[in-house]
Amino acid sequence: MSETTFTPRVFSGIQPTGNLHLGNYLGAMKRFVDMQNADFETVYCMVDLHAITAWQDPKDLMKSTRELCAGFIAAGIDPEKSILINQSQVPEHAQLGWIFNCVARMGWMQRMTQFKDKAGKNAQNASLGLFAYPALMAADILIYHATHVPVGEDQKQHLELTRDIATKFNHDYGVDFFPITEPVIEGAATRVMSFRDGSKKMSKSDPSDASRINMTDDADTIAKKIRKAKTDPEGLPSEAEGLEERPEARNLVNIYAALNDQSVDQVLADMGGKQFSEFKPMLAELAVSKLAPISTEMARLMDNQDEIDRILARGSQRAREITAPILRKTYDIVGMVPPVQL
Ligand code: TYM
Repeated sequence: MSETTFTPRVFSGIQPTGNLHLGNYLGAMKRFVDMQNADFETVYCMVDLHAITAWQDPKDLMKSTRELCAGFIAAGIDPEKSILINQSQVPEHAQLGWIFNCVARMGWMQRMTQFKDKAGKNAQNASLGLFAYPALMAADILIYHATHVPVGEDQKQHLELTRDIATKFNHDYGVDFFPITEPVIEGAATRVMSFRDGSKKMSKSDPSDASRINMTDDADTIAKKIRKAKTDPEGLPSEAEGLEERPEARNLVNIYAALNDQSVDQVLADMGGKQFSEFKPMLAELAVSKLAPISTEMARLMDNQDEIDRILARGSQRAREITAPILRKTYDIVGMVPPVQL
């Protein structure tokens, strides 16, 4: 463990690929807002460099990046309180990413389950970037000396790798320079599951749109998707143990709890004994009441793209006040000759 005391600082990121969904909102964004309002400096990022590890149409990528920025603000991220950036405007992420490519070991990277899932059967044809991605993710975090990283459950292995990279760098160069970051995987909805299959996580890449709630879905679509969500014939139990072996039921209760800022036990104390025919409309109403204002605000912000672009430019200016000195110090540690005044 590191001896140095680091400023409590949060970093997290979301890929600007396609629509934001309920899993991103409950597992990540809503938690980002909570941490912004606690005692942390907070940096939130649209990770556009990560997005191109799989093919992205350039126009779509630009639109998704601005839309994600609008989503952050609509969900409650205040660009004055938090630093809001797109990754490519802060070049130190990619520069530290290269150093970490030289610290991370092939064997570590080969164990990354997300690479295996994403590359699928055709791994030979996956981009080199997709393989190296977790080292860039470590750089995203450590270029800020971030101490806490709120994410959903699926990012846990990448955060363990981030700790391994920091530890190896510190050890190899005999320094106590990078913090050993804490993953923050908390709340009732760290793994929101598909509405069609309770064993798969809700994801942007699922071909079935009915499997997820998109942040841009209208009230009718949200209600219909919840009504059609797969469940089992039993009613709701009064205690959490009653949800074991019932992944679909558990998923809907978790979502209700997270949306309503309650624990699963509190929800079941109120709802135990209800049938899904009664619970689903209540969940739909709650979801619409929380999500509709966000999607309306997102649409309003998207009408003023110049303002979004200004927010990102300002964010990168503030970010670089942190990242440039950390990169310079890293280069010094590694032995890169610094530029002199000419
Ligand atoms: P991404 O873009 O896939 O997802 C963004 C965030 O949403 C969470 N998430 C979920 N949470 C609960 N249930 C789900 N079904 C669900 N689906 C997604 C993810 O856990 C994540 O927190 N590698 C990251 C982006 C990244 C990053 C970083 C994150 C790049 N650099 C540095 C933290 C720190 C990713 O692809 O997330």
